[in-house]
This record gives sequence, C-alpha cells and structure tokens, in this order.
Amino acid sequence: MWTKSQLCQQQCGVVPELEKCTVHIREPERVKEIIAALRAGGPSKLQVITDFDKTLTCFANKGKRSPTCHNIIHDSKLISDECKTKLKNLLNIYYPIEIDPTRSIEEKLPLMIEWWTKVHELLVEQKIQKSKLAETVMESEAQLRDGYRIFFDRLHKYNVPVFIFSAGVGDILEEIIRQVGVYHQNVTVVSNFMDFDENGVLKGFKGEMIHIYNKREGALRNTEHFQQLAECCNVILLGDSLGDLSMADGVQKQENILKIGFLNDKIEQLLDEYLASYDIVLVSDETLDVANGILQYVLESGQLSNCCRNN
Ligand code: TMP
Ligand code: MG
Repeated sequence: MWTKSQLCQQQCGVVPELEKCTVHIREPERVKEIIAALRAGGPSKLQVITDFDKTLTCFANKGKRSPTCHNIIHDSKLISDECKTKLKNLLNIYYPIEIDPTRSIEEKLPLMIEWWTKVHELLVEQKIQKSKLAETVMESEAQLRDGYRIFFDRLHKYNVPVFIFSAGVGDILEEIIRQVGVYHQNVTVVSNFMDFDENGVLKGFKGEMIHIYNKREGALRNTEHFQQLAECCNVILLGDSLGDLSMADGVQKQENILKIGFLNDKIEQLLDEYLASYDIVLVSDETLDVANGILQYVLESGQLSNCCRNN
C-alpha cells in the first residue's frame, strides 16, 4: 500500500533519499537521466556490481572503525599476538598509502600488491583452520550498512544479479552474508578465497590475487559470468575506492551505468576527485538508503503505475 506522499514523489520521478545531506552530485541532470533510463529498462535489464569492504559494510560505527574482512581475521583468536603486531604494523604503513590523495594509482599499485602479499603470507604461517571461520565471523564486529536487508531482499525479489567483487577474503565475506541470511541465489562473489589442505588448514589463496587496483583485470577474467548476463545492459555500481570504478569493465554491451561512491576518509582532499569519477558521492553515509531509494524507484515504480492504472 502506497501513501499519498509516496505516490506523489514516485510519480514526480523523485528519489527522496537523494535529498539527504550526505549526497553530493556533480551533474544532477545526468544522474536523473541515468536513473530514468534504468527505470525504463526495468528489472530484467539491470545488474548490480558492488565492492564489499567499506561499501556494503560500515566504515565506522560510533567513532570506532568497523573491521574489513581481513581485519576480522587479524583481530581474531586465529592469530598469534606476535603476528597481530606484524599485521597491525602493515596496516599502519599501507592503509595511509591506500587513501593518500597525493599519490597516483600507478604509484600505489606495487605497494598494494606488496601489502596483500605480505598479509597473505603471514596468514598462511598461522595455520588457520577452515572449521573456525564461521565462529570467527560470529564473534567479530562485522557490520553491514543499515538497510542491507532491504537491499539484498529487493534485488532477490526482482531477480537482479548481484556481483560482489572484493579484494577482501571471500570465505569471510560469504560467511558474513550467509549468517545474516542475505546470501540469496542471485548473488555471486568474486574475491580472494582461501585454499585449504586435506586437513582443512590454510595453505594459500586460490587464483590470481585481487587487490584494490586490479579489479579491471579481475572483471575481464569474469567475462563468462557477464556473458551469461548479456541482457543486463544496465548497471548500478557501488564502491568506496577509485579502484572500484573498473569493476564493471567486463560487462558486455553496457547501455547505462550509475556509479555510486562512498567517500569515507580524507573527505576534503578527495571530494573533487570522487565527484569527477562517481555520479553520486555519499560522504560519511553509513547507510544503503540512497541505493535502496534508487532501487525502489527503478524496480517498483513500474508496479506503482500499474496499481495507479487499476485504481
Ligand atoms: P574491498 O575491495 O572489498 O573493499 O577490500 C579491500 C579492503 O581491505 C581495502 O580497503 C583494504 C583493506 N585491507 C585491510 O583492511 N587489511 C589488510 O590486511 C588488507 C590486505 C586489506
Ligand atoms: Mg572497499
């Protein structure tokens, strides 16, 4: 049942969530046009491609940083104190580089490879057991952004493919969304998956390592997945890093793409660059409200016009 004001807003083509003070848009008219095109295409033409850490999960909660997939492991009982110190030191060295607005992506790239490589080597030394991962996630402070259930359930309801493309740890990511009951059959996860020996002990990571600046190559390795979605030429992309912008590069015959970026850190220094790269920039917004508002408009307004016609 729609309220009168919802009807008015929907019919005027307005997504009320775009009025939030966290929303920054360089070209509002262009955004309106893209959203209108996504709506015209409807559910059958849409796919969602999203990053995970600090995009679907919170950046911070009540001033405290929320853990990434990696940090869920690093902070857990699975890791010795000595190794925790080493991992923390690496975070203190490389995270500032990740978000450094004065360095180019080219400059950051080898350093990010260095970070991921060192961390994965340390994790293998810890002889992590596969059987402990579910408990580790249960005991962690993993936190999906507010509105995650509406987000996943609505996309499931309309059978919109969701491609989660993460440089985090796939096993942890899957456990997070499984434990809260949103790992629906329309969701595909591509990430760094742990490789276990016959005793269920970590021996390495499967396939090519994904870090924040090689998502383009990762996307192109998944052309088969995107070929199966040839009809889904409209894309909503969600990310928090500039490296996430290339996540849709594997999509064949892309017609319309709406890029939504969460700007979590170094806001003043990075805002202009984010505005130039993402269609919608969400500054310090710990919710999925805007994505949900757009999805409601794109996926459900067709139903609304039918219901109006019937009345
Ligand atoms: P994402 O692509 O899903 O956002 O995952 C990558 C994030 O993980 C990126 O922001 C850096 C972060 N990270 C850690 O927090 N700890 C680590 O040890 C590593 C290697 C990455
Ligand atoms: Mg991220």
